[in-house]
Amino acid sequence: MEREPTPIPPGSEGEHPEPGVVVIFGASGDLTRRKLLPALYALRLEDRLPAAFTVVGVARRPLGDDEFRRQMREGVARHGRTGPPEPAEWEAFAEGLFYHALDFQDAPAYAALAAQLAELDRARGTRGNYLYYLATPPSAYPVIVRALAQAGLAREATGDGKAGYRRIVIEKPFGHDLASARALNRIVGEAFAESQVYRIDHYLGKETVQNILVLRFANAIFEPLWNRGQVDHVQITVAEAIGVEERGAYYEEAGALRDMVQNHLLQLLCLVAMEPPVTFGADHVRDEKTKVLRAVHPIALDEVDRVAVRGQYERGTVDGQPVPGYREEPGVAAGSTTETYAAVRLEVSNWRWAGVPFYLRSGKRLPSRVTEITLQFRRPPHLLFGSASVLLPNALVLRIQPDEGIALRFGAKLPVQDFRIRPVTMDFRYRHSFGISTPEAYERLLLDAMRGDATLFAREDWVEAAWEVLAPIQRAWAEGPPPKFPDYAAGTWGPREADELLAREGRRWRRL
Ligand code: BG6
Repeated sequence: MEREPTPIPPGSEGEHPEPGVVVIFGASGDLTRRKLLPALYALRLEDRLPAAFTVVGVARRPLGDDEFRRQMREGVARHGRTGPPEPAEWEAFAEGLFYHALDFQDAPAYAALAAQLAELDRARGTRGNYLYYLATPPSAYPVIVRALAQAGLAREATGDGKAGYRRIVIEKPFGHDLASARALNRIVGEAFAESQVYRIDHYLGKETVQNILVLRFANAIFEPLWNRGQVDHVQITVAEAIGVEERGAYYEEAGALRDMVQNHLLQLLCLVAMEPPVTFGADHVRDEKTKVLRAVHPIALDEVDRVAVRGQYERGTVDGQPVPGYREEPGVAAGSTTETYAAVRLEVSNWRWAGVPFYLRSGKRLPSRVTEITLQFRRPPHLLFGSASVLLPNALVLRIQPDEGIALRFGAKLPVQDFRIRPVTMDFRYRHSFGISTPEAYERLLLDAMRGDATLFAREDWVEAAWEVLAPIQRAWAEGPPPKFPDYAAGTWGPREADELLAREGRRWRRL
């Protein structure tokens, strides 16, 4: 088999992407205004965009280019990390922003979109390179994908001996269970080759998440510890202080397991657990990640109660402010049984990890926003210094956000008589070491998609394997008796059962 060439490692200063058009479906939505345009504008300020960079916003409602530009400017000013745009900079950027009104269901109408894109190619020199971004509700994905194919917009064009790329970025949720993810993969696969498809998971665009691979595979000192011989267990926490905000209707259908665990937490699990890839090529990296999911010990239906916990918040206090319960949020049913908290115990049954539990948890309205991964190490084999030395085992903590950094905890002798031991930490903080504000995840991912680097995107087999891991939990929760919700107060660390999940095995969640 031929080896993939090692592409530019993510994060290094690659060349500018080829000129092209980013076509955003769902241009009037939140994601476009809050994340996509601010990310593109930040790339512009850093001179990372291609020459003649062009965006076509597509949505149903008729809108002129000027009005679209005005709305996007407002979005950038409000949500961008770069602050309100400076007029001349904005003008230059906005010249490349266009709007195209389209009813997504109306397949023949895509011909007009094709014509506008061809016209832009001529006027701006974008060479038939189109990156479609699906920022619509997921129910529109199949329709758009099929219509793009019908309009001849999915096929990579050739002309002057040069291929115009046609790529599609698909937002989460990618399906809502294994069957729907498979069905969506099939539909997408009929229109696009897998190499054209970029399933986005914005956690992979976070600097600190990418640094997991650097920590593991660019240093020699950690990897010898990174296995069942040394690691007692792993904890992955993605805690949010916010509630469901304006997204009650979406969240009712999703819940924490689908919204966070199936994608973000399993991605983190894979980066921690994977074997070193042969190269940093997209397929080599993604092969290793999929292998992790394939190695996850399948959960038996009758085991679900012991390895998975769900919860839902009631009224409480977060950051000193009283906040409503989930069932009181807009768009949420009064008797909703949707979980806003999920914790899962998984085992990766392979040579490296057999017997090491991975505890994953995520919830809304927890006391603070914090994402971190902790590898807790085994205790020393013999306690020379008595029981005091067993209180807090060694731990390596990867702080993904906020306060990004890495800490190693070990015991040190208190400067007193006798051998009294106290845990201390060696601490690396991004801010202190690098002093720059970290780019938003979407910046990195949009740039990668324009460059054609799919390393940080989910491949079809990974997505299906992720749903497969969680399928028994989904089924047991759907078919079992309704949960006794609500069961944790906003501003606390989730339901009691989540503590019991670890306590049963003599462990506890790290206090954050
Ligand atoms: C999204 C979820 O994928 O991630 C949201 O749909 C969640 O519910 C968000 O709030 C969290 O992302 P971040 O980057 O703020 O940790």
